[in-house]
Amino acid sequence: MVKQALAYKANPFADKTLGSNKRIGLLFLNPSLRTRLSTQVAAQNLGMEAIVFNVDKEGWALEFEEGAIMNGTTVEHVKDAAPILGNYFDILCVRTFPSLQNREEDYSEKVISAFIQYAGVPVISLESATLHPLQSLTDIITITENWNENRRPKVVLTWAPHVKALPQCVSNSFGQWVNVWGGANFVIAHPAGYELAEEFTKGATITHQQDEALTNADFVYVKNWSSYNEYGKILSNDKNWMLTQQKLQLTNNAKVMHCLPVRRNVELSDEVLDSPNSIVTREASNRVWAAQAVIAELVKGLKG
Ligand code: CP
Repeated sequence: MVKQALAYKANPFADKTLGSNKRIGLLFLNPSLRTRLSTQVAAQNLGMEAIVFNVDKEGWALEFEEGAIMNGTTVEHVKDAAPILGNYFDILCVRTFPSLQNREEDYSEKVISAFIQYAGVPVISLESATLHPLQSLTDIITITENWNENRRPKVVLTWAPHVKALPQCVSNSFGQWVNVWGGANFVIAHPAGYELAEEFTKGATITHQQDEALTNADFVYVKNWSSYNEYGKILSNDKNWMLTQQKLQLTNNAKVMHCLPVRRNVELSDEVLDSPNSIVTREASNRVWAAQAVIAELVKGLKG
């Protein structure tokens, strides 16, 4: 997928008729800038028609509970809506966030699972309750194209402060993908209490000492997440975890990554984000090629 994505980056319109007469639906249950637009651009590069539907703002309130007595605020059951969307579209993409209230429910992935169960067409995650796979494919692509040395890079995922409780999705996926990719010496740094679910961090070195983690790092991936164990809670606002130019001095002139949007001078200082070490813009641009590689694979598998 990385190779295919980089091939599309070099030649965006190489498969410009692959998706002719095919339609992709992009359902958003929460806000997005990069995911929405990069997926639209990717689909259009393949000759597909892309239609965005902001379900949260423009659609009927969806019900996901099996057997629900729908006498409250929800108007339409996903069992009824998803098959219709599956008839309108050849591929369906869904973006949803977790509640951060109920860990069991969020980690059951009930929203995207319902679309997978009832749509009858391939479903692409544009970020779900616990994972953000297109972001992680993008991140592996970005590390690959920024690494030319004949050794494994030291890649550090470091927690950073934030004003809001955020999902664990990006960090879960990043851990999962870096480990499966196997191309890095991978370290995760976070304050005590911010341990991610073990299934996503296998193979990583985990530390509570950010400076130790940053020492000789080649890539630093900055991300906030709320607690998994004390589910959805903010346990620390320690400003010392913000990535600054001074901290960057510990690294091997590391490239700095973040999935964006970023809270400047909370997660990362201006001086880091505006420095040549920051590759966040290139990373976000690569979202197109990751999405294009995935959509192309799925289109090739479609009948008719
Ligand atoms: N990184 C990311 O998913 O960005 P958006 O929320 O803008 O889509």
